[in-house]
Amino acid sequence: MDLTAIVLAAGQGKRMKSALAKVLHPLAGRPLCYFPVRAAIDAGATRVVVVVSPGHEASIAERLRADFGDRIETAVQDPPRGTGDAARVGLDKVQSERVLVLCGDTPLVSPDDIAAVLAALEGDLALMSCRLDDPSGYGRVLRDGEGRVLEVREDRDLESDEQRAVSEVNAGVYAAGTAFLKKALAQIQPANAQGEYYLTDAVALAAREGGAHAVQGHPDGLIGVNDRRQLAEAEARLYERIADRHRLAGVTVHAGARIDDGIVIGQDSFIEAGASLRGSTRIGRGTTIDAGCVLTNTEVGDGALFKPYSVATDSRVGDAAQIGPFAHLRPGSDIGAEAHIGNFVETKKTRVRRGAKANHLAYLGDGDVGEGANVGAGTIFCNYDGFQKHCTVIGEGAFIGSDSQLVAPVSIGKGAYVATGTTVTRDVPDDALAIGRTNQANKEGYASRLKSRLAAAAKKAKGA
Ligand code: UD1
Ligand code: CA
Repeated sequence: MDLTAIVLAAGQGKRMKSALAKVLHPLAGRPLCYFPVRAAIDAGATRVVVVVSPGHEASIAERLRADFGDRIETAVQDPPRGTGDAARVGLDKVQSERVLVLCGDTPLVSPDDIAAVLAALEGDLALMSCRLDDPSGYGRVLRDGEGRVLEVREDRDLESDEQRAVSEVNAGVYAAGTAFLKKALAQIQPANAQGEYYLTDAVALAAREGGAHAVQGHPDGLIGVNDRRQLAEAEARLYERIADRHRLAGVTVHAGARIDDGIVIGQDSFIEAGASLRGSTRIGRGTTIDAGCVLTNTEVGDGALFKPYSVATDSRVGDAAQIGPFAHLRPGSDIGAEAHIGNFVETKKTRVRRGAKANHLAYLGDGDVGEGANVGAGTIFCNYDGFQKHCTVIGEGAFIGSDSQLVAPVSIGKGAYVATGTTVTRDVPDDALAIGRTNQANKEGYASRLKSRLAAAAKKAKGA
């Protein structure tokens, strides 16, 4: 059935001290408002109206549509005159019979709790509440002698210590009949300490008419983000949750690993402290990502090994491949099964086929390295002439001696051998040896003569 959720995300978020809209600040790799929108959709919402401040509608809509498509709509609240006013703005775009309302800055609210609020909607309105040891700052859920909800009263509007002692607080998650909420929000007045239209006033109206129910939810759902300190707190909580989800699915995640929302990891993989998995990264089974590795939008196969401090972006790494330590796979690197990319090797837009190796200090850009080929230490693919990029192709089983430069466009044939220190400027046929370096001359007894001459020159220079 059709169900619309309104996510309240207007207001400047001044305490973030940022040019970026508060609800777009990143949290575990997603914008803050992604999480309540996701939770509403997981709880059954088919459309989400996000209420935003003027000037932010385009950026917020663009960001959320990338994940949720045309289920997202925005409504602009100008100026921000309270949660009741914000909900009213959102309601103009609601056609469904029932509506959910939640806050855009509470990223840890759970879909199960939202679904429970929806299930409790019998009369006009249902809301989520939590019991807190310290309820100060939150709206309190006030009940009558029989335990029926009477109203939600804001902290600043409480009238007695008895009311202040009420530990049941409003979490800001509501389900309501759309017709009722429209009628209620047309009636509310800003007659309160803040001079704002309070959405919570609809609770008292519902209690007097068709009834209001409050259902207990998890207190994490209350954690709101107003400044970057709270953003960090929410993020720590979220990373812990994500790590636990992977742990329970059979992945060893060491404390201090950062796994963003949406990352896929196969069973029996190990993620070390300080590793960071971002974007759309996917890790296979039995793979180890060691300390300090940063993988962004990278797909890694089964049984692979990322040794410490390796960086991979927009790349692919095959089964049982070994990367690092200190390797850099730049966008478009495609490292085949069982291939080795060693320390201080940089690759870019390069395919390294099965079992090929580049173990030390090399740059492989715009290349294709054949199966089982060996690229020696210090090899450089000279791919750029200052105007264009050119390709280097190395055939199956070829051997590139250390400190060689391959000046692209160039290709090295299958099984060919490039001698150490060669600058290759012409194609090398299959099975050929390419050698390009000046001949070595040995002058017998010359070393000591040279040394005494240099020592005498130094002595003369000092005395002068
Ligand atoms: C609100 C509740 C309070 C509850 C608390 C839970 C009201 C009056 N009070 O208080 O009972 O305990 O949430 O966190 O609703 N917003 C707009 N436009 C506005 C004002 C706010 O879109 O004009 C949005 C904010 O971006 C935010 C949400 O509504 O995401 C809640 O607003 P906030 O000012 O944080 O309400 P609280 O004072 O925390
Ligand atoms: Ca708040």
